[in-house]
Amino acid sequence: MSNLVQKYNIPGPRYTSYPTVPYWDLESFSGLQWKSTLIDSFNESNEDQGISLYIHLPFCESLCTFCGCHKRITKRHEVENPYISNVLKEWKLYCDLFNTKPRIKELHLGGGTPTFFSPENLTRLVNGIFKTAARAENYEFSFEGHPNNTTKEHLQALYNVGFRRVSYGVQDYNKKVQLAIHRLQPFANVKNVTEWAREIGYTSVGHDIIFGLPFQSKDDVAQTILKTKELMPDRLAFYSYAHVPWLKGNGQRGYKDSDLPTAEEKREQYEMGKALLGEVGYSEIGMDHFSLKTDTLYKAMDNGTLHRNFMGYTASKTRVMIGLGVSSISDSWDSFAQNVKNLEEYSHLVENNIIPIYRGHILTKEDKIIRKHILNLMCRFKTSWENQHEVFSELDVVRDKLSEMALDGLVEISSDSIYVTEKGRPFVRNVCMAFDLFLHRKAPDTRLFSMTI
Ligand SMILES: C[S@@+](CC[C@H](N)C(=O)[O-])C[C@H]1O[C@@H](n2cnc3c(N)ncnc32)[C@H](O)[C@@H]1O
Ligand code: SF4
Repeated sequence: MSNLVQKYNIPGPRYTSYPTVPYWDLESFSGLQWKSTLIDSFNESNEDQGISLYIHLPFCESLCTFCGCHKRITKRHEVENPYISNVLKEWKLYCDLFNTKPRIKELHLGGGTPTFFSPENLTRLVNGIFKTAARAENYEFSFEGHPNNTTKEHLQALYNVGFRRVSYGVQDYNKKVQLAIHRLQPFANVKNVTEWAREIGYTSVGHDIIFGLPFQSKDDVAQTILKTKELMPDRLAFYSYAHVPWLKGNGQRGYKDSDLPTAEEKREQYEMGKALLGEVGYSEIGMDHFSLKTDTLYKAMDNGTLHRNFMGYTASKTRVMIGLGVSSISDSWDSFAQNVKNLEEYSHLVENNIIPIYRGHILTKEDKIIRKHILNLMCRFKTSWENQHEVFSELDVVRDKLSEMALDGLVEISSDSIYVTEKGRPFVRNVCMAFDLFLHRKAPDTRLFSMTI
């Protein structure tokens, strides 16, 4: 395995979309076309599937130096009210495009730190959204909570407006690691917020843990998993630390590259962690994700409905996903659009009744075929091209690229399908890269992506 890591540990996308953002064709994108594809997709799917809504709440009180998310650090809570007003204005701009009420199937509050906001302001936000929307059947509402500032009142307020799923950032319990990433977070805090959520009636509690952090050892990862076992969250994200210090404003500068585990140590952490998670009762769902068999994500994997989008893995698929707030990405299925990242610019645009997107991509027929294969690989570890509409012009090139992985036992290739073996699962991003025609045609000339392992 160690030779395989050396061979395949290269920079690569995480495929929450295809084409990946750096390869969007910005030239042929236009806001008008984006709106028109959105309206068409909405009309086609709102009645049956409903839509997904992602709301980015960017504020955090304190900077965690490992963090790659889009955030704004402040202790000034006066920012809450105007931000919520702007998100609601942005939502109204979208609702004005549609001639029926959106039916929301999935709503996710991400960040930053949604629990930076007061329970009253989060309630105002959600109630404001539903002034012009309805809940779809079997809706699923979820949010990301920070264990250091989530209160019972937050959990109760969001429960009252329909939230049943929460995920908490845990990362690692070792003090040395927590100091290095500037995130002191005692186990007692995680225990409290996990237990409160259950007492209130949340049906799915998730924890995010990370391997590959500065100063983190294999033993730290094991201890973190064993502590996690005491609380048995329903879902577990087991992320590989993405070291992307070149991204503007992400603050990954509180430690040196030499403080990070080597690729080999990281691989050992991953393998030990994955085995231990299995021993304590978790099943692997897709890349980085594990759950108990009772969780909806496991059931979705089991019955083949697991889906992946900008929010990560989801239990059901909607054709339309609207992203509100700074930096959010929307997906109309035929095109993607991203909001501006700068808070002041965002506020300015929305206050002037302009949907605040600044770039996007209209998917071609070929993009859609490749996206289907990449989604299959990420959600089901296999894909096939039995039908003519699953075939694309460079399929032979893809098979050639995969033949080496087949020799290494990572994939099995037949005349019309490929299957990622158990051994190949840690390398699923590499398998997807073989299908990524944009990467074939133009390898990035600057560093864009984190390492695949
Ligand atoms: C928005 S945060 C979660 C909510 C809240 N802000 C918190 O920190 O508890 C989303 C998650 O992304 C993960 N994450 C952030 N930066 C990462 C990185 N560089 N590599 C891997 N995972 C990362 C962390 O596990 C984090 O919990
Ligand atoms: S990990 Fe969470 S709390 Fe820390 S900076 Fe990132 S988004 Fe904010």
